[in-house]
Amino acid sequence: MSPGARLLDVARVRGLFPGLSDGLVHVDGPGGALVPESVVRAVSQSMRVPIADRGGVFASSARAEQLVSSARTAIADLVGGLPAGVVLGPNLTSLTYAVARALGKHWRRGDEMVVSRLDHDANIRPWLQVADEVGMVVRWAEVDIETGELPDWQYDELLTDRTRLVAVTAASNAIGTCPDVAAIVERAHQAGALVYVDAAHAAPHLPLDVAELGADLLALSAYKWGGPHVGAVVGQPWLLEELRPDKLLPAPDRVPDRFELGTPPFELYAGVAASVDHLAALDPEATGTRRERVAASMAAVSRYEDVLFDRLDGALRAMAHVQVLGSPQYRTPTLSFTVSRMRPRQVAGELARRGVCAWDGDFYSRELFDAIGVNETGGAVRLGLMHYNTVDEVDHLVDSISALR
Ligand SMILES: Cc1ncc(COP(=O)(O)O)c(C=O)c1O
Repeated sequence: MSPGARLLDVARVRGLFPGLSDGLVHVDGPGGALVPESVVRAVSQSMRVPIADRGGVFASSARAEQLVSSARTAIADLVGGLPAGVVLGPNLTSLTYAVARALGKHWRRGDEMVVSRLDHDANIRPWLQVADEVGMVVRWAEVDIETGELPDWQYDELLTDRTRLVAVTAASNAIGTCPDVAAIVERAHQAGALVYVDAAHAAPHLPLDVAELGADLLALSAYKWGGPHVGAVVGQPWLLEELRPDKLLPAPDRVPDRFELGTPPFELYAGVAASVDHLAALDPEATGTRRERVAASMAAVSRYEDVLFDRLDGALRAMAHVQVLGSPQYRTPTLSFTVSRMRPRQVAGELARRGVCAWDGDFYSRELFDAIGVNETGGAVRLGLMHYNTVDEVDHLVDSISALR
């Protein structure tokens, strides 16, 4: 069996999560995953020893420096980037605004960008607002509403020699679709455009390789895979060198520090490194560098989640009173559904009564849900599986939703 073909030992995995002791079924992962004990411990241990700010010549300042560099290295290992290209920040949304403003300084009236209807608003609105300020033309890549796919062929018509940016998600946090990002990037690069990929929802579920995707900038959010509330953008250092984000005068001008405002949450950075270690250890038999172990473990995660998801998806689609939104071919283990004659909030309430934690609403995929036409009735209910969910939990979900008839 190849390393990626091993399955997850879910009983062992569940023992790593203190949050599971509440006995509830947590399928709210796409909104924020449960946190492993190792991450909790790394954060608290880091605060038991003195940490000063960076830049001093004394031990507690060196410790701060080390926490920053270990978080950058961990993120680079997760996606195959370079630590020198990892910008850390409070969350993906804030970082995307910062990058959009910095890129916007290079753009001119009449330049163009392509955003997608599949994306979380964090990879749409910051770009639209910069486009509006600069006077750019915005083009939309549309979703096939029936399938939930984002066809890559449409980019042939959307891209021109004035296109400066393509913003696209690696996976929809609402309906799970994984577009063919590499194909979109190839087209965008032929047109001379940069590509900003939102990998927040893909990262907890799939092995990611920034070079394979071809993304110029890849955005992440650690709380989606069990880390603390820290965001990251992974870019090519040469590209970051060309950008001049707003910053304080005395703050370092080197890359990637130039993009990081104020004093960082060093203790959370300790948790970022621990969270990538957690992912790398999900397949305990994986060997090699952390990057190699992450790749093997995420392949095992993906395989495990697929089995669970197929069971859930198949059962829901067989229920006459349930409508699952979209049916994309490549997807994360995340779906959104509605129930006939019930509001999503009511459905989520009924599930909560049965011990299920599930979100209802639009999940900030406002454009997508407007296009599908579910926002007027409260959006949908989302079920997102993670590597700590079980077959028994899936069966409980299926029974609970079946009972809503
Ligand atoms: C796909 C996707 N992109 C972006 C975001 C926003 O991330 P953050 O909360 O780090 O700003 C989320 C969070 O829900 C998300 O799921």
